[in-house]
Amino acid sequence: MEWFPEIDSTNTYLRTHMGQDFPEGHVVVADYQSCGRGRWGATWQSSAGKSLLFSVLLRPSSGVLSQLAALFGVACRHALGCGSIKWPNDVWMGGRKVSGLLLEGGPNGVVLGVGLNVNQESGDFPPELKPLASSLFEETGRIWDREELLAGLLQSLEYHYERWTCDGFAWVRPLWERDALWMGEKVRAGTQMGRILGLSDDGGLLLETEQGPQCVQSGEVERLRPVLD
Ligand code: BTN
Repeated sequence: MEWFPEIDSTNTYLRTHMGQDFPEGHVVVADYQSCGRGRWGATWQSSAGKSLLFSVLLRPSSGVLSQLAALFGVACRHALGCGSIKWPNDVWMGGRKVSGLLLEGGPNGVVLGVGLNVNQESGDFPPELKPLASSLFEETGRIWDREELLAGLLQSLEYHYERWTCDGFAWVRPLWERDALWMGEKVRAGTQMGRILGLSDDGGLLLETEQGPQCVQSGEVERLRPVLD
C-alpha cells in the first residue's frame, strides 16, 4: 500500500504505473486529490483529510467490467452496513450520494477507484453539490475513523472479489437487489424509461418499459416522480 498526503488522482497514478511490478491488490490511498476523477468525465472533489480516496489494482481473469461494477457496489454497501445502492454502484444515504466508484480497464489490469465522503460537514461541499452529496458524518452525526473504515472496505472488497472469482456472478444479484435504491420505481436510465426490475446477468440495469423488459448498460439513473395536478 502507498499512502500520499496529496496526489492528482489515485486512479491516474495506478493507471500510469500499473505496467510496473505492482502486484494485484496494490492499494493507493490519498488524503487529498487535486484532480480527482468521477464517472462520465466528472471531477470528484474532496476536502483534505475528510474523505476516503483510494484505488486498488486488479487483474481479473475475465473482463466483465459491468459485473465488477455491481459487485463492488455490493461490497461497499456491505462494509458500511447502511445506505442504498444506486445503479451501478453509488452508495446513497438520506437521498444523497456518499460514495462513488470508478472502474477503469487497461492493458495490464483494472483499476478500482473508491471515493467515500466520511467526515465532511455540509459547509465543506461546494454549493452546487450540497443538494446531491452527503457524508457519513452528516447522515449519522458521528465522526468516523478513516483507517478503520478503509480496513473494513478493503476486507469486504477482497471477500466479494474472491467469491466472484470462484463462484461467478449469480449470487451477487439478490444482494444488489436487496439494497438497491428505487426498486420497482419509475426511472430514466440513459435513453430508457421504466420501472426498475433489478440487475441483469452481466450487471446491467433491468427495466420494465412500455416495450417490455429492457437492459440498460450505461447512463445516469434519475427517479421520475409522478406529475401532480
Ligand atoms: C463517481 O461516482 O463518479 C466515481 C467517483 C470515484 C472517485 C474516486 S476517489 C479515488 C479514485 N481516484 C479518482 O480520481 N477517482 C476515484
